[in-house]
Amino acid sequence: MRHFLTLKDYTKEEILEILELGLEIKKEVKAKTFTPRLANQTLAMIFEKSSTRTRVSFEVGMYQLGGHALFLSNRDIHLGRGEPVKDTARVISSMCDMVMIRTYEQSKLEEFSRYSKVPVINGLSDSYHPVQLLADYMTMMECGKDKNPVAAYVGDGNNMTHSWLMLASKLGFELRVATPKGYECDPAVVADAMEFAKVSGAKITITNDPKEAVAGATVVTTDTWISMGQEEEKAQRLRAFEGYIVDETLMGLAHKEAIFLHCLPAYRGVEVSEAVLDGEQSLIFEEAENRLHAQKGLMVWLDKHR
Ligand code: CP
Ligand code: NVA
Repeated sequence: MRHFLTLKDYTKEEILEILELGLEIKKEVKAKTFTPRLANQTLAMIFEKSSTRTRVSFEVGMYQLGGHALFLSNRDIHLGRGEPVKDTARVISSMCDMVMIRTYEQSKLEEFSRYSKVPVINGLSDSYHPVQLLADYMTMMECGKDKNPVAAYVGDGNNMTHSWLMLASKLGFELRVATPKGYECDPAVVADAMEFAKVSGAKITITNDPKEAVAGATVVTTDTWISMGQEEEKAQRLRAFEGYIVDETLMGLAHKEAIFLHCLPAYRGVEVSEAVLDGEQSLIFEEAENRLHAQKGLMVWLDKHR
């Protein structure tokens, strides 16, 4: 049985297999001929943080696969009142076929998965957001931007950046990361990415200069400067990230056919300008919809591998 806690645990072949499956299911759903691949199965979704896309995509995805999803907010279940993770894991996994968790510490996901009898999916932690990267890469595949991509990530060295590092270093493409000083990625994650890059041939560049990162890039991406749980640092972060906005000027340095991606929610006019978000190069809503299709591929793949 496999869990999906970080792309670190997955090979290039496995990532592509999941995405091909997701694309196949997407075609069927669009043609209204989908097969209930997870008929009568139940997905428990534990949320310790807010969500729009993750909740809707997993819930609708499970429905479209012939199964059912349960929304379990931290405020309503005993986990939020201190019931041990290992007890919650044993109970929930004795009744459900799969579990998705959105939480703070990656270690909580790891602990849950150690006691779970069923596959556990990371629906975002402070360290990683791997399901988002499945959707991002699916979007790149659909518009041919998976052919020798040069990706540029500008902004905070956060869960999204870490996941881009894992994706690029596993799949073997070029990724340039530009963060302000003091907001760099976790050095342990960068070290892992550099190790994977030796095998895959990925080229990873870490810089503090957004222009250097974006010059000639074919995929430009960013994320909020204030992730969930960092609300109190807002004023300080807004100051530190000055000059890191992805606007038309910065986007103008990218390849002329570059696409723009953002996992959303976006703070319009903060990390990205309105013009870029709503511009012709932006594929943010295709990317958001692909959460649904990529995650269906993932759930079916995990079911096959148990
Ligand atoms: N991108 C993403 O995970 O969005 P939500 O926080 O709305 O789930
Ligand atoms: N980095 C953001 C991603 C939101 C989908 C956060 O963790 O809040």
